[in-house]
This record gives sequence, structure tokens and C-alpha cells, in this order.
Amino acid sequence: MSVTLNTKFTAGFIADHEFTSIEPEAARAFRLLKSHTGPGSDFLGWMDLPVAYDKEEFARIKVAAARIQKSCDILVVLGIGGSYLGARAAIEFIKSPLYNNLKKDTPDIYFAGNNISTTALNELLSICEGKDLCVNVISKSGTTTETAIAFRVFQSLLISKYGEKEAAKRIFATTDRRKGTLKELSDRCGYETFTVPDDVGGRFSVLTAVGLLPIATAGIDIDAMMQGAADARAQLSDESLFSNDALRYAAARNILMRKGKKVEILVGYEPYMLMLNEWWKQLFGESEGKDQKGILPDSVVFSTDLHSLGQFIQDGSRILFETVVNIQNPGSTFEIPSDPENADGLNFLAGKTLDEVNKTAMLGTLFAHTDGGVPNMILEVSDRTAYSFGYMVYFFELACAVSGYMLGVNPFDQPGVESYKKNMFALLGKAGYEHEREQLAQRMK
Ligand code: PA5
Repeated sequence: MSVTLNTKFTAGFIADHEFTSIEPEAARAFRLLKSHTGPGSDFLGWMDLPVAYDKEEFARIKVAAARIQKSCDILVVLGIGGSYLGARAAIEFIKSPLYNNLKKDTPDIYFAGNNISTTALNELLSICEGKDLCVNVISKSGTTTETAIAFRVFQSLLISKYGEKEAAKRIFATTDRRKGTLKELSDRCGYETFTVPDDVGGRFSVLTAVGLLPIATAGIDIDAMMQGAADARAQLSDESLFSNDALRYAAARNILMRKGKKVEILVGYEPYMLMLNEWWKQLFGESEGKDQKGILPDSVVFSTDLHSLGQFIQDGSRILFETVVNIQNPGSTFEIPSDPENADGLNFLAGKTLDEVNKTAMLGTLFAHTDGGVPNMILEVSDRTAYSFGYMVYFFELACAVSGYMLGVNPFDQPGVESYKKNMFALLGKAGYEHEREQLAQRMK
């Protein structure tokens, strides 16, 4: 297995009998999922996706990625939340957070349409000057404001740069199969479209065209990624916490939450995990944080953040537990050199690899944090390949869905996200929001 859960460091916090006594709840949650009888069961397409994906579209994704690689210096990916985090996480995890700066024969990839920042947009426009561009606009609803504003800008840039006909060959839209503003506009303008399946929500969509087109464009093996997810689906299929690590992880989170551990910190020891952390935070935060319930997902990259949040984790409010993602094989090596002068006193490290030091920092931190009252689970991930990424995505999606059902929420909706939009539209004077606008005006007096 590419991903396994190590609960050695939770021993002082969760007794074996607690796993045994919560097992029926986890099994029941898993059965609800498998039988499609729980809340949100219209959004379970992600469960069979690794084996039941649209093969024709998958082939088209590869063709489109090859075309983008051939014709563009820069691919601009427009999308927000589930419509960009997975692709960005994959590219940074498998390739590098410095992907755009690497020597490579694939295009630079920039993500936009995920904020409303003037600075970010202007900076990207200036980076794009004089470069050959392609755009992949991704929005299931087709109406998300952040993405739509950015698309208006980049669509018009491509049309003025290449003319309508050539621009149409450089714009790829990933959206609803049938409906929505983006779908209508793409059909009208002749853009190639890819589908966000009806039964897959944004945060569960990385293994659809939403994630796969940018990921394939970065030169990542999407067949291997799907295979990893397919193997996870096959291997994480039984209802016992003692043989299904995704269920065990879900159960451990729930046990800890009931003991007052309301914050889970996902810990990586590699900068290439930063965006994976962000993807994971959305997955768990948007799935569980509702009905005034849920574990708050937070994240750190150590050892960097041991020098910032380390103090709080070691010694602050005891509301936390950590899930450490340990990448066993770093994929490359670096040996710490010896120095005859030893002026810095570091010769005790000479000849060790940097990864040995990193892993030792991890071990030291595991002891320190558990001694400080912070339960730690370790997710052992064999490497940073596309295969392991796909496996890990499925592991977390399954654990998240089971956790949500154990918590008694619908893990597949996100009603809370609408509140800010309603206020923003009202304040901006969008038609249909006149009443809300009036109410907010009263409150501002
Ligand atoms: O997970 C989700 O549902 C959200 O993060 C959405 O993906 C995000 O709000 C973007 O929505 P859309 O794809 O409709 O533009």
C-alpha cells in the first residue's frame, strides 16, 4: 500500500478498546456511503471515479494537454476552491513548488481567478506579456465571480492577441456538461469543453478534468495517478478499522474530537506539501464544518513552522492533534559536507543526508509534541509519485466522507459559502439583491 496510517504516537491518547467501541459507527458510516443512502448521496461520483471515469474524455484531456504544451509558453488556469486547489497541489507535490522556474519542456502554469486582488491580476498580466498563452477556465457552476472576472480579462486578452478564431483554439473550459453561463459561452465561441460530472462536488473533483487537464499539461502521468486512486479504492474497501486505514483515520479523528481536540493540524516536512495542505483543508473544512460542528483543519510545514507555530503546538491551548504526512522516499538526495575547520560546529552532521536530518527532526518533534499533550498520527506515504498522489487523494476523500457521516453532517454540501456572496452581490448592486442591500444599508448606519 502506498499510504498507511501509523498510530504508534496516539497510544497515550486513544486506547485500543476505544477503536473497538467506535468501529460500528465507522462501519455504519461507510455502509451509508456504499449504499448511497446517506445525506448528499447525489454527490458520490468520486467513489467510483478511479475505475468508472469517462475514457473518451480522458483521452481528449491528453490530446489537449499535448496541444497546450506545443503551442503555449504559459497556461493560465482560472478557478477557485475545488476548481483549482487539487491541480495546484498535484503539480507542487509531484513536480515542485518552483515548477515554473524549473528547466522543463512543458509550459509555465499560473493559477488565477482564485482571488479578487488587483495586484495579483496585474502582476500576472505583466508576466504574460510577449508570451504565447492558453487558458483553462474551470467552474462547475459557471458563474463564480472571482473566476468569471478573470476569465473576462483573459478571454479578451487572447482575442486581442490572436483574433477570435485562434483564441478559440487556446481556450479550454471545464464546466457543467449541459448548463450554465460558461457552458453556453463556450459552445457559442467554439471552445473545447471538459466536464465536471454532476455527481462530483468541487472539492472531490481533482481526478476529473478539473484537475487532470492542468496536471497532464505539467507533464505528470495521469494514468499512474488514476491507478493509484483505483488501488486505494480496491484496498480501502472493508469495514474494519483494523484493516482499512482510511476508516481508522476517520475513527481516530472522531475519538479525539470527542475528547476536546477541536483542531487538526496537517503536518508536512516538505515545502512541496504546502498546496496539498490547502487542498486538504478545503476538503475537510467544507465537508465537516457545518451545523455548528466539525474539527477545524489547519496546516503547517515543518521544520519551517516549528519556528513560528511550534511554541503554540508544544505549549498552548490543548485543543489540537496533528496528522503528520511522512514522505518516506524523498526522491533525491543531498549529503551534508564535512568542513575541516568545523567553525560552525556542524561536523557531527557531516556525511548524513539532509533527509536523515529532516526525518530526525520529525521524530524529535513527534516525541516532543506527544509529551506536550498533542496526539499525533502519521500517514506514511511511500513517495511523491503521481501514483501515490492519486492514492492519497482517494484515502483522504474516503476518510473525509466517513468522518462527516460519523459527525452527523452532510459532507457534500456547502451552504455556508453562500452567505458572503449574498452580501457581496447586494453591496455591489446586483439585480435581485435589492432587499438585502437595503438591510445591509440599515446595518451600516
Ligand atoms: O468545493 C466546492 O464546491 C467549492 O470550492 C467550489 O469548487 C468553488 O466554490 C468553485 O465553484 P465553481 O466550480 O462552481 O466555480
